[in-house]
Amino acid sequence: MKDDLQYLSGFNCEFSSEDARCPGALPVGQNNTQKCPYGLYAEQLSGTAFTAPRSQNKRSWLYRIRPSVVHKIYQPIVDEAPRLVYDWDATHPIPNQLRWKPFDVPSRQAAEVDFIDGLHTICGAGDCRTRQGVAIHVYLCNASMRDKAFYNADGDYLIVPQLGPLLITTEFGKIRCEPNEICVIQQGMRFNVTVFGPSRGYILEVFDDHFHLPELGPIGANGLANSRDFQTPVALYEDRDTDYKIVCKYQCKLFVAQQDHSPFDVVAWHGNYVPFKYDLARFMVINSVSFDHCDPSIFTVLTCPSRKPGTAAADFVIFPPRWSVQEHTFRPPYYHRNCMSEFMGLIKGRYEAKEDSFHPGGASLHSIMTPHGPDTRCFETASNTELKPERIADGTQAFMFETSYSMAVTEWALKTCNKLDNDYNKCWEGLKKHFSESKTIL
Ligand SMILES: [Fe+2]
Repeated sequence: MKDDLQYLSGFNCEFSSEDARCPGALPVGQNNTQKCPYGLYAEQLSGTAFTAPRSQNKRSWLYRIRPSVVHKIYQPIVDEAPRLVYDWDATHPIPNQLRWKPFDVPSRQAAEVDFIDGLHTICGAGDCRTRQGVAIHVYLCNASMRDKAFYNADGDYLIVPQLGPLLITTEFGKIRCEPNEICVIQQGMRFNVTVFGPSRGYILEVFDDHFHLPELGPIGANGLANSRDFQTPVALYEDRDTDYKIVCKYQCKLFVAQQDHSPFDVVAWHGNYVPFKYDLARFMVINSVSFDHCDPSIFTVLTCPSRKPGTAAADFVIFPPRWSVQEHTFRPPYYHRNCMSEFMGLIKGRYEAKEDSFHPGGASLHSIMTPHGPDTRCFETASNTELKPERIADGTQAFMFETSYSMAVTEWALKTCNKLDNDYNKCWEGLKKHFSESKTIL
């Protein structure tokens, strides 16, 4: 498995890479020479409006064997039982707390299912045409994409592998992404996924904007996810003439176009609109060292802003291994109701607030203003335990996709997948009344 990466040192910096087989493939001093070195074509991939402010402007120049336009016309993919669903009115709204047992990966003996065919939408909101909204999917697959590439014209994918590594071939090079790492493939970037066995993971799709590092405010220049730990691939082309399928998602529908060569024929590139990966183990955790909690936003790895200042279209938040030291504090997550929707997944281990019933490869959704919090056992234990500094979440990685949109849940998630935990609500039924007027104030 080829995994040759360079560090993205500085999120908005300019990067460049050329395949070692073709030194000098990058034109010097200009983007679009009359004749590119090695007989390559120059092609720009824009991730923001041409006129976006310089600090936010994203584009890359690709120097490739053939321009992307060399393909047959797109044909719609007609699917009688669509797995990618963006019709948010197809099911009735459901404000209940929802939890799913681990989603099944299909058996390879039954059928070969690749990354694209294994996508299933769980929930979402908004409209990809007006570029506002999000969708949350899982991928459940057992086979590699063969001579097939995919791109999403509607938004960006943040991919969270849970079971099995992914080798993602992009126009910019290859990225190997293991569980406990994440990968972001941005709008329009073509990619192919190789798997090495049963594979499962989560995807956050955003329409509004691209993912950014959160501002640090009084934290200062260092902390949370540091920009130097993000990695982007190095150029690695293949010059392969063969029948190739380009699958695209455009206005939330799938299309396919044939071409006679691999699309991964980029010999050199430069720019700041690139796919990247990040190892969650590198997250610098910050939390209270006196009493009480910081809000979960202190665990934000990446954020995609909405048009409302200070409010994310979606945040990617993790709950990593850390020390818990707060004094005279109920340390697990507090009970709350939120003006945002909270979708949680578990990559590995046991989540502290629901140790026995939230499993890796499963999920939960706590919708806007739907109350939630620790289960009965967690409350009783944490309320009565002797507080001392202790490690929590070792060997665990839970995460949250938190969005300001109000989410619709798909038919597949509610019924077809057969993984909805119908007893979820019972985990709070045992919470007793402890109130008594005769009790002293602590
Ligand atoms: Fe919550």
